[in-house]
Amino acid sequence: MNLFLACLAGYCLGNFSSAIIIGKVFLNKDVRDYGSGNAGATNAVRAFGAKIGLVVFLLDVLKGVIAVVIGKYLDPIWGQYFAGIFVIMGHNWPAALKFKGGKGIATSIGVMLPINPLVALICVVVGVALIVLTRIVSIGSISGVVLAPVIVLAFVRPMDTKLLGLTCVLSAMAIFRHRSNISRLLKGEENKFKKKD
Ligand code: G3P
Repeated sequence: MNLFLACLAGYCLGNFSSAIIIGKVFLNKDVRDYGSGNAGATNAVRAFGAKIGLVVFLLDVLKGVIAVVIGKYLDPIWGQYFAGIFVIMGHNWPAALKFKGGKGIATSIGVMLPINPLVALICVVVGVALIVLTRIVSIGSISGVVLAPVIVLAFVRPMDTKLLGLTCVLSAMAIFRHRSNISRLLKGEENKFKKKD
């Protein structure tokens, strides 16, 4: 029962899409009508500017952290992992917002931070470095999240199968949600952030 509550709490929390809420409440705009149509920090930068994009990013990270904390409280063995998966599902496919949400990268960072901060930080550093080098956010996002299970498998000792399972599910969801980005990347048509003159 408590594990079910952890999943439910995670999913409900995930439905709080900061990009959509901030856009609609403060700017009377729907972020999904702009740029890539994604309800995430990257597209919030395109639609509303860098400062609001940063706020969206931090709030999306925060809800991942909160979901994990609640999940662990409800079920100390499995709760954090399931709440972590469900908060991202709620973010990516929010029932309250016609199932049109984000791609779950900031929330994945929030989920990973309390569970294994070192793995989370390594992935963020690599992801950010790739974004800076390529100016393409999806390259950093996909690489960062896919790196997580590799790091867990290669370096986390003793082997943590729950963490490995979580990072594999997070990677699979991120790749699935980035299908359109991957297809644009393969065609050389992915959105790039321009350099400031
Ligand atoms: O985290 C989302 C990012 O990887 C891609 O966002 O808006 O370019 O599809 P977007």
